[in-house]
Amino acid sequence: MGAVAKTVTATDWRADFPALDQSVHGQALIYLDSAASAQQPAAVIDAVARYQREDHANVHRGVHTLSHRATEAYEGARDKIRGFINAKSRSEIVLTSGTTESINLVAQSFCRPRLQPGDKILITHLEHHANIVPWQLVCEQTGAELIVAPINERGEVELDSLLDLIDDRVFLIGMAHVANALGTVCPVEKVIEHARQRGIPVLIDGAQGVPHLDVDVQALDCDFYAFSGHKMFGPTGTGVLYGREAILDAMPPWQGGGDMILEVSFDKTIYNELPYKFEAGTPNISGVVGLGAAVDYLQSIGMPTIARYEQELHDHMVARLKNVDGMRLIGEARHKASVQSFLLDDIHSHDLGTILDHQGVAIRTGHHCAMPVMQFFGVPGTCRASLAFYNNRDDIEQLVAALEKARELFA
Ligand code: ALA
Repeated sequence: MGAVAKTVTATDWRADFPALDQSVHGQALIYLDSAASAQQPAAVIDAVARYQREDHANVHRGVHTLSHRATEAYEGARDKIRGFINAKSRSEIVLTSGTTESINLVAQSFCRPRLQPGDKILITHLEHHANIVPWQLVCEQTGAELIVAPINERGEVELDSLLDLIDDRVFLIGMAHVANALGTVCPVEKVIEHARQRGIPVLIDGAQGVPHLDVDVQALDCDFYAFSGHKMFGPTGTGVLYGREAILDAMPPWQGGGDMILEVSFDKTIYNELPYKFEAGTPNISGVVGLGAAVDYLQSIGMPTIARYEQELHDHMVARLKNVDGMRLIGEARHKASVQSFLLDDIHSHDLGTILDHQGVAIRTGHHCAMPVMQFFGVPGTCRASLAFYNNRDDIEQLVAALEKARELFA
Protein backbone atom coordinates (compact mmCIF):
# COMPACT_ATOMS: atom_id res chain seq x y z
CA MET A 1 0.00 0.00 0.00
CA GLY A 2 1.38 3.45 -0.92
CA ALA A 3 1.92 6.15 1.67
CA VAL A 4 -1.17 8.17 2.50
CA ALA A 5 -0.62 11.86 1.72
CA LYS A 6 -0.71 13.99 4.86
CA THR A 7 -3.53 16.50 4.86
CA VAL A 8 -2.06 19.88 5.72
CA THR A 9 -4.24 22.02 7.94
CA ALA A 10 -4.24 25.57 9.22
CA THR A 11 -2.86 24.17 12.47
CA ASP A 12 0.30 23.09 10.65
CA TRP A 13 0.62 26.47 8.98
CA ARG A 14 0.10 28.24 12.27
CA ALA A 15 3.01 26.39 13.82
CA ASP A 16 5.24 28.05 11.21
CA PHE A 17 4.58 31.49 12.77
CA PRO A 18 6.47 31.96 16.06
CA ALA A 19 4.67 35.18 17.03
CA LEU A 20 1.33 33.39 17.10
CA ASP A 21 2.52 31.09 19.88
CA GLN A 22 2.21 33.48 22.82
CA SER A 23 -0.17 34.85 25.39
CA VAL A 24 -1.23 38.45 25.85
CA HIS A 25 -2.88 39.54 29.09
CA GLY A 26 -2.70 35.90 30.16
CA GLN A 27 -4.78 34.71 27.19
CA ALA A 28 -3.64 32.81 24.11
CA LEU A 29 -3.14 35.29 21.30
CA ILE A 30 -5.80 35.28 18.59
CA TYR A 31 -4.36 37.42 15.80
CA LEU A 32 -7.09 38.88 13.59
CA ASP A 33 -5.22 41.91 12.27
CA SER A 34 -3.35 40.53 9.29
CA ALA A 35 -4.79 43.20 6.97
CA ALA A 36 -2.79 45.77 8.94
CA SER A 37 0.34 43.62 9.05
CA ALA A 38 0.64 39.87 8.70
CA GLN A 39 2.88 37.76 10.91
CA GLN A 40 6.06 36.29 9.48
CA PRO A 41 6.84 32.58 9.25
CA ALA A 42 10.10 31.27 10.73
CA ALA A 43 11.30 30.72 7.15
CA VAL A 44 11.23 34.50 6.58
CA ILE A 45 12.72 35.41 9.96
CA ASP A 46 15.50 32.84 9.46
CA ALA A 47 16.25 33.93 5.89
CA VAL A 48 16.71 37.53 7.06
CA ALA A 49 18.84 36.47 10.03
CA ARG A 50 20.98 34.15 7.87
CA TYR A 51 21.50 36.90 5.31
CA GLN A 52 22.49 39.37 8.01
CA ARG A 53 24.81 36.92 9.74
CA GLU A 54 26.54 35.55 6.66
CA ASP A 55 25.99 37.49 3.46
CA HIS A 56 25.40 41.15 4.16
CA ALA A 57 27.14 43.73 1.98
CA ASN A 58 25.91 46.35 -0.45
CA VAL A 59 24.37 45.17 -3.73
CA HIS A 60 25.45 45.87 -7.34
CA ARG A 61 28.59 47.60 -6.15
CA GLY A 62 31.30 45.27 -4.96
CA VAL A 63 33.66 42.78 -6.57
CA HIS A 64 34.09 40.96 -3.29
CA THR A 65 32.35 37.76 -2.32
CA LEU A 66 29.86 39.14 0.17
CA SER A 67 28.69 41.77 -2.28
CA HIS A 68 28.19 39.07 -4.90
CA ARG A 69 26.21 36.98 -2.43
CA ALA A 70 24.09 39.93 -1.34
CA THR A 71 23.40 40.83 -4.98
CA GLU A 72 22.45 37.26 -5.82
CA ALA A 73 20.10 37.06 -2.84
CA TYR A 74 18.50 40.44 -3.64
CA GLU A 75 18.12 39.80 -7.37
CA GLY A 76 17.05 36.24 -6.68
CA ALA A 77 14.15 37.63 -4.66
CA ARG A 78 13.18 39.84 -7.60
CA ASP A 79 13.02 36.73 -9.80
CA LYS A 80 10.85 34.96 -7.25
CA ILE A 81 8.46 37.92 -7.11
CA ARG A 82 8.30 38.02 -10.92
CA GLY A 83 7.27 34.38 -10.97
CA PHE A 84 4.81 34.84 -8.10
CA ILE A 85 2.72 37.42 -9.97
CA ASN A 86 3.63 36.05 -13.42
CA ALA A 87 5.13 39.25 -14.79
CA LYS A 88 6.69 38.82 -18.21
CA SER A 89 10.07 40.18 -17.27
CA ARG A 90 12.17 40.94 -14.18
CA SER A 91 12.53 44.47 -15.60
CA GLU A 92 8.89 44.99 -14.65
CA ILE A 93 9.50 44.37 -10.92
CA VAL A 94 10.50 47.61 -9.17
CA LEU A 95 11.34 47.05 -5.52
CA THR A 96 9.98 49.80 -3.27
CA SER A 97 9.32 50.37 0.41
CA GLY A 98 5.67 49.38 0.05
CA THR A 99 2.38 50.01 -1.74
CA THR A 100 2.40 53.67 -0.72
CA GLU A 101 5.75 54.34 -2.34
CA SER A 102 4.75 52.34 -5.42
CA ILE A 103 1.65 54.46 -5.98
CA ASN A 104 3.49 57.72 -5.32
CA LEU A 105 6.10 56.64 -7.86
CA VAL A 106 3.41 56.22 -10.53
CA ALA A 107 1.74 59.51 -9.59
CA GLN A 108 4.97 61.48 -9.76
CA SER A 109 6.86 59.75 -12.53
CA PHE A 110 4.12 58.56 -14.87
CA CYS A 111 1.34 61.09 -14.27
CA ARG A 112 2.98 64.35 -13.27
CA PRO A 113 4.93 64.97 -16.49
CA ARG A 114 1.94 64.04 -18.66
CA LEU A 115 -1.16 65.36 -16.88
CA GLN A 116 -2.77 68.49 -18.32
CA PRO A 117 -5.25 70.79 -16.56
CA GLY A 118 -8.69 69.27 -17.00
CA ASP A 119 -7.42 65.68 -17.20
CA LYS A 120 -8.91 63.30 -14.67
CA ILE A 121 -7.71 60.56 -12.38
CA LEU A 122 -10.54 58.14 -11.62
CA ILE A 123 -10.59 56.20 -8.33
CA THR A 124 -13.37 54.65 -6.23
CA HIS A 125 -14.97 55.54 -2.92
CA LEU A 126 -13.52 52.51 -1.12
CA GLU A 127 -9.83 53.27 -1.54
CA HIS A 128 -7.16 53.32 1.15
CA HIS A 129 -5.61 56.77 1.66
CA ALA A 130 -2.53 55.49 -0.21
CA ASN A 131 -4.67 55.28 -3.33
CA ILE A 132 -6.24 58.71 -2.78
CA VAL A 133 -3.69 61.19 -1.48
CA PRO A 134 -0.91 60.61 -4.08
CA TRP A 135 -3.50 61.40 -6.79
CA GLN A 136 -4.69 64.50 -4.92
CA LEU A 137 -1.09 65.70 -4.76
CA VAL A 138 -0.47 65.21 -8.46
CA CYS A 139 -3.81 66.81 -9.32
CA GLU A 140 -2.83 69.88 -7.26
CA GLN A 141 0.52 69.96 -9.04
CA THR A 142 -0.94 69.75 -12.54
CA GLY A 143 -4.47 71.17 -12.47
CA ALA A 144 -5.96 67.73 -13.10
CA GLU A 145 -9.12 66.58 -11.32
CA LEU A 146 -9.72 63.60 -9.04
CA ILE A 147 -13.06 61.90 -9.69
CA VAL A 148 -14.57 59.16 -7.58
CA ALA A 149 -16.78 56.23 -8.56
CA PRO A 150 -19.51 55.55 -5.99
CA ILE A 151 -20.08 52.49 -3.83
CA ASN A 152 -23.36 51.03 -2.60
CA GLU A 153 -24.63 50.13 0.88
CA ARG A 154 -23.07 46.68 0.63
CA GLY A 155 -19.70 48.33 0.09
CA GLU A 156 -19.41 47.34 -3.57
CA VAL A 157 -18.13 49.56 -6.35
CA GLU A 158 -21.03 50.61 -8.60
CA LEU A 159 -19.52 49.29 -11.80
CA ASP A 160 -21.95 50.95 -14.21
CA SER A 161 -21.46 54.31 -12.55
CA LEU A 162 -17.70 53.86 -12.71
CA LEU A 163 -17.85 53.02 -16.41
CA ASP A 164 -20.12 56.05 -17.01
CA LEU A 165 -17.41 58.27 -15.53
CA ILE A 166 -14.86 57.15 -18.11
CA ASP A 167 -14.46 59.74 -20.85
CA ASP A 168 -11.65 61.05 -23.01
CA ARG A 169 -10.23 63.17 -20.17
CA VAL A 170 -9.64 60.20 -17.87
CA PHE A 171 -5.90 59.77 -17.82
CA LEU A 172 -5.57 56.88 -15.37
CA ILE A 173 -7.79 54.67 -13.23
CA GLY A 174 -6.57 53.66 -9.75
CA MET A 175 -8.48 50.98 -7.90
CA ALA A 176 -8.10 48.51 -5.05
CA HIS A 177 -8.08 44.80 -5.83
CA VAL A 178 -9.50 44.14 -2.34
CA ALA A 179 -10.77 47.02 -0.18
CA ASN A 180 -8.82 47.14 3.07
CA ALA A 181 -11.62 48.45 5.31
CA LEU A 182 -14.44 46.38 3.79
CA GLY A 183 -12.90 43.29 2.24
CA THR A 184 -14.73 43.89 -1.05
CA VAL A 185 -13.13 42.12 -3.99
CA CYS A 186 -13.45 44.74 -6.72
CA PRO A 187 -14.36 44.06 -10.35
CA VAL A 188 -10.88 44.94 -11.56
CA GLU A 189 -11.02 42.60 -14.58
CA LYS A 190 -14.06 44.39 -16.02
CA VAL A 191 -12.62 47.84 -15.34
CA ILE A 192 -9.31 46.89 -16.96
CA GLU A 193 -11.12 45.47 -20.00
CA HIS A 194 -13.06 48.72 -20.54
CA ALA A 195 -10.04 50.89 -19.86
CA ARG A 196 -7.96 48.88 -22.32
CA GLN A 197 -10.50 49.48 -25.08
CA ARG A 198 -10.09 53.21 -24.53
CA GLY A 199 -6.32 53.16 -24.01
CA ILE A 200 -6.52 54.30 -20.37
CA PRO A 201 -3.85 52.90 -18.03
CA VAL A 202 -5.01 51.17 -14.85
CA LEU A 203 -3.18 50.90 -11.53
CA ILE A 204 -4.35 48.22 -9.13
CA ASP A 205 -3.66 48.67 -5.41
CA GLY A 206 -2.98 45.04 -4.61
CA ALA A 207 -1.93 45.46 -0.97
CA GLN A 208 -4.86 43.34 0.20
CA GLY A 209 -5.06 41.31 -3.01
CA VAL A 210 -1.67 39.60 -3.19
CA PRO A 211 -1.85 37.96 0.28
CA HIS A 212 -5.20 36.32 -0.44
CA LEU A 213 -5.73 35.85 -4.18
CA ASP A 214 -3.81 34.10 -6.92
CA VAL A 215 -2.62 37.21 -8.78
CA ASP A 216 -1.44 36.96 -12.39
CA VAL A 217 -0.62 40.40 -13.78
CA GLN A 218 -0.52 39.17 -17.37
CA ALA A 219 -3.98 37.61 -17.08
CA LEU A 220 -5.26 40.77 -15.34
CA ASP A 221 -3.68 42.86 -18.12
CA CYS A 222 -3.25 45.85 -15.78
CA ASP A 223 -0.57 48.47 -16.40
CA PHE A 224 0.56 48.83 -12.79
CA TYR A 225 0.07 46.59 -9.75
CA ALA A 226 1.32 47.80 -6.35
CA PHE A 227 1.73 45.73 -3.19
CA SER A 228 3.51 45.50 0.17
CA GLY A 229 5.79 42.84 1.63
CA HIS A 230 4.53 43.02 5.21
CA LYS A 231 0.96 42.13 4.29
CA MET A 232 2.16 38.99 2.49
CA PHE A 233 4.10 37.60 5.46
CA GLY A 234 7.35 39.35 4.58
CA PRO A 235 9.28 42.16 6.30
CA THR A 236 8.03 45.72 6.69
CA GLY A 237 9.60 48.37 4.48
CA THR A 238 9.44 46.19 1.37
CA GLY A 239 7.07 46.41 -1.56
CA VAL A 240 6.71 46.10 -5.27
CA LEU A 241 5.58 48.14 -8.20
CA TYR A 242 4.82 45.95 -11.18
CA GLY A 243 4.65 48.03 -14.34
CA ARG A 244 4.30 47.08 -17.97
CA GLU A 245 7.81 47.28 -19.41
CA ALA A 246 7.05 49.69 -22.25
CA ILE A 247 5.40 52.11 -19.82
CA LEU A 248 8.16 51.93 -17.21
CA ASP A 249 10.70 52.43 -19.96
CA ALA A 250 9.04 55.69 -21.01
CA MET A 251 8.89 57.04 -17.46
CA PRO A 252 11.63 59.29 -16.03
CA PRO A 253 13.27 58.26 -12.75
CA TRP A 254 11.44 59.38 -9.66
CA GLN A 255 14.34 59.77 -7.26
CA GLY A 256 17.97 60.40 -8.13
CA GLY A 257 21.01 58.89 -6.44
CA GLY A 258 23.32 55.93 -6.47
CA ASP A 259 22.53 52.75 -8.39
CA MET A 260 19.93 54.35 -10.67
CA ILE A 261 22.60 55.68 -13.03
CA LEU A 262 24.93 54.38 -15.72
CA GLU A 263 27.05 57.50 -15.96
CA VAL A 264 27.11 60.83 -14.15
CA SER A 265 28.87 64.04 -15.03
CA PHE A 266 27.97 67.60 -14.11
CA ASP A 267 26.62 68.09 -17.64
CA LYS A 268 24.50 65.02 -17.97
CA THR A 269 23.42 61.81 -16.26
CA ILE A 270 22.59 58.65 -18.15
CA TYR A 271 20.09 56.57 -16.22
CA ASN A 272 20.37 52.89 -15.51
CA GLU A 273 18.20 50.33 -17.28
CA LEU A 274 14.97 48.95 -15.85
CA PRO A 275 14.18 48.27 -13.10
CA TYR A 276 17.23 49.93 -11.47
CA LYS A 277 16.31 53.33 -12.87
CA PHE A 278 13.63 53.46 -10.16
CA GLU A 279 15.74 52.13 -7.28
CA ALA A 280 17.93 55.00 -6.13
CA GLY A 281 20.18 54.46 -3.12
CA THR A 282 20.97 51.38 -1.07
CA PRO A 283 17.77 49.34 -0.93
CA ASN A 284 16.26 47.35 1.93
CA ILE A 285 18.39 44.33 1.05
CA SER A 286 17.63 42.12 4.04
CA GLY A 287 13.94 42.97 3.78
CA VAL A 288 13.83 41.97 0.13
CA VAL A 289 15.65 38.71 0.95
CA GLY A 290 12.89 38.09 3.49
CA LEU A 291 10.25 38.93 0.91
CA GLY A 292 11.75 36.33 -1.41
CA ALA A 293 11.50 33.80 1.42
CA ALA A 294 7.86 34.81 1.95
CA VAL A 295 7.17 34.11 -1.72
CA ASP A 296 8.80 30.67 -1.40
CA TYR A 297 6.72 29.98 1.67
CA LEU A 298 3.44 31.03 0.04
CA GLN A 299 4.23 28.98 -3.05
CA SER A 300 4.95 25.94 -0.90
CA ILE A 301 1.30 26.08 0.20
CA GLY A 302 -0.08 27.46 -3.06
CA MET A 303 -2.19 30.58 -3.47
CA PRO A 304 -5.23 28.67 -4.81
CA THR A 305 -5.17 26.54 -1.62
CA ILE A 306 -4.85 29.66 0.53
CA ALA A 307 -7.66 31.45 -1.31
CA ARG A 308 -10.02 28.46 -0.97
CA TYR A 309 -9.25 27.95 2.72
CA GLU A 310 -9.62 31.64 3.58
CA GLN A 311 -12.87 32.00 1.64
CA GLU A 312 -14.46 29.22 3.64
CA LEU A 313 -13.14 30.68 6.91
CA HIS A 314 -14.29 34.17 6.00
CA ASP A 315 -17.82 32.97 5.19
CA HIS A 316 -17.88 31.12 8.49
CA MET A 317 -16.72 34.24 10.37
CA VAL A 318 -19.42 36.36 8.77
CA ALA A 319 -22.10 33.78 9.61
CA ARG A 320 -20.96 33.61 13.24
CA LEU A 321 -20.74 37.40 13.61
CA LYS A 322 -24.26 37.81 12.22
CA ASN A 323 -25.52 35.75 15.17
CA VAL A 324 -24.05 38.08 17.78
CA ASP A 325 -26.76 40.32 19.27
CA GLY A 326 -26.21 44.02 18.65
CA MET A 327 -23.97 43.31 15.63
CA ARG A 328 -23.84 45.74 12.70
CA LEU A 329 -21.75 44.39 9.84
CA ILE A 330 -20.19 47.04 7.65
CA GLY A 331 -19.27 45.80 4.21
CA GLU A 332 -21.46 42.99 2.95
CA ALA A 333 -20.29 42.74 -0.63
CA ARG A 334 -21.21 39.59 -2.53
CA HIS A 335 -17.55 38.94 -3.28
CA LYS A 336 -15.25 39.46 -0.33
CA ALA A 337 -11.88 38.33 0.95
CA SER A 338 -10.59 37.95 4.49
CA VAL A 339 -11.89 41.14 6.09
CA GLN A 340 -15.02 41.99 8.09
CA SER A 341 -15.70 45.40 9.57
CA PHE A 342 -18.36 45.76 12.23
CA LEU A 343 -19.75 47.73 15.15
CA LEU A 344 -21.33 46.29 18.27
CA ASP A 345 -24.28 48.14 19.84
CA ASP A 346 -23.06 51.68 20.41
CA ILE A 347 -19.70 50.67 21.83
CA HIS A 348 -16.87 52.85 20.49
CA SER A 349 -14.58 50.82 18.26
CA HIS A 350 -11.47 51.66 20.31
CA ASP A 351 -13.21 50.59 23.54
CA LEU A 352 -14.26 47.33 21.96
CA GLY A 353 -10.78 46.75 20.56
CA THR A 354 -9.27 47.32 24.01
CA ILE A 355 -11.67 44.91 25.67
CA LEU A 356 -10.97 42.28 23.04
CA ASP A 357 -7.23 42.78 23.48
CA HIS A 358 -7.60 41.97 27.17
CA GLN A 359 -9.10 38.67 26.07
CA GLY A 360 -6.19 37.98 23.76
CA VAL A 361 -8.03 38.93 20.56
CA ALA A 362 -6.19 41.40 18.31
CA ILE A 363 -8.34 43.34 15.84
CA ARG A 364 -7.89 46.75 14.24
CA THR A 365 -10.13 49.65 15.19
CA GLY A 366 -10.64 53.14 13.78
CA HIS A 367 -10.83 54.44 10.23
CA HIS A 368 -8.38 51.92 8.72
CA CYS A 369 -6.77 54.65 6.58
CA ALA A 370 -10.02 54.79 4.62
CA MET A 371 -11.85 57.83 6.01
CA PRO A 372 -14.09 58.28 2.94
CA VAL A 373 -15.43 54.75 3.55
CA MET A 374 -16.26 55.71 7.14
CA GLN A 375 -17.92 58.92 5.92
CA PHE A 376 -20.04 56.88 3.48
CA PHE A 377 -21.29 54.63 6.28
CA GLY A 378 -21.71 57.59 8.66
CA VAL A 379 -19.36 56.24 11.34
CA PRO A 380 -16.09 57.56 12.74
CA GLY A 381 -14.54 54.11 12.66
CA THR A 382 -15.21 50.40 12.83
CA CYS A 383 -13.77 47.26 14.35
CA ARG A 384 -12.12 45.09 11.74
CA ALA A 385 -11.29 41.40 11.98
CA SER A 386 -8.97 40.26 9.21
CA LEU A 387 -7.92 36.70 8.50
CA ALA A 388 -4.93 34.89 7.12
CA PHE A 389 -4.50 31.19 6.40
CA TYR A 390 -3.00 30.71 9.89
CA ASN A 391 -6.38 31.46 11.44
CA ASN A 392 -8.98 28.79 12.10
CA ARG A 393 -12.52 28.28 13.33
CA ASP A 394 -11.39 28.29 16.98
CA ASP A 395 -10.14 31.84 16.47
CA ILE A 396 -13.60 32.83 15.27
CA GLU A 397 -15.16 31.24 18.36
CA GLN A 398 -12.75 33.21 20.57
CA LEU A 399 -13.70 36.40 18.75
CA VAL A 400 -17.40 35.73 19.19
CA ALA A 401 -16.95 34.84 22.87
CA ALA A 402 -14.94 38.02 23.44
CA LEU A 403 -17.63 40.12 21.75
CA GLU A 404 -20.33 38.55 23.89
CA LYS A 405 -18.30 39.27 27.00
CA ALA A 406 -17.87 42.89 25.88
CA ARG A 407 -21.65 43.20 25.50
CA GLU A 408 -22.10 41.97 29.07
CA LEU A 409 -19.54 44.49 30.33
CA PHE A 410 -21.31 47.34 28.58
CA ALA A 411 -24.84 46.20 29.44
N1 ALA B 1 -3.34 49.49 5.34
C1 ALA B 1 -3.30 48.85 6.59
C2 ALA B 1 -4.67 48.43 7.07
O1 ALA B 1 -5.56 48.26 6.29
C3 ALA B 1 -2.51 49.54 7.61
O2 ALA B 1 -4.84 48.24 8.26
